[in-house]
Amino acid sequence: MINIIVAISDNYAIGRGGDIPWHISADLKYFKKATSGSAVIMGRRTWESLGCRPLKNRLNIVVSSTVQQTRGMVAVPSLEDALALTDAFENVFVIGGGQLYRSAMPLAERLLVTHVHTTVSDADTFFPEIDMDRWQQVSVSETQTDPATGYDFESAVYEQR
Ligand SMILES: NC(=O)c1ccc[n+]([C@@H]2O[C@H](COP(=O)([O-])OP(=O)(O)OC[C@H]3O[C@@H](n4cnc5c(N)ncnc54)[C@H](OP(=O)(O)O)[C@@H]3O)[C@@H](O)[C@H]2O)c1
Repeated sequence: MINIIVAISDNYAIGRGGDIPWHISADLKYFKKATSGSAVIMGRRTWESLGCRPLKNRLNIVVSSTVQQTRGMVAVPSLEDALALTDAFENVFVIGGGQLYRSAMPLAERLLVTHVHTTVSDADTFFPEIDMDRWQQVSVSETQTDPATGYDFESAVYEQR
């Protein structure tokens, strides 16, 4: 199954200055648990935001026309080439960023969205609109408050109608 996993603010912001605009430790744990053992596909800038270090216990695929394959990472020129490498995996996660999410939205079968209740006025990267004619929310966690940022957040799962 092709999944998108993302954390989005109330104004659909996902990035600022090459990084995520918040650090929510519980959400990072959720991300790790959801994606471990699976294939993750990311854009080149997201790869750079990880310090060009592969995520452990996952097949790391980077979509890029410019980066070279390195240890622990496979580089491919398109999302389609990335997906072609994932046949052995039950779940594939597109993990960002904005540009790759846009390409992946038409192909995705499930969205794992952490809604972070803040407005990031100086964001430079945004998630595309979630079209509720196409998607329905099938589950949502309880709202938690992140102790470091004070932001309320919850994790929702959307599947195609
Ligand atoms: N909130 C979240 O959950 C979340 C998750 C991930 C990332 N982010 C944030 O998002 C930002 C990065 O997003 P971004 O949109 O700037 O960049 P990105 O999507 O991570 O990377 C863009 C680059 O990836 C390659 N690429 C992406 N889509 C492609 C496609 N369909 N076909 C071929 N190549 C493709 C190209 O690489 P080349 O130029 O090398 O060809 C492109 O320049 C950062 O701020 C990051 O922290 C947020």
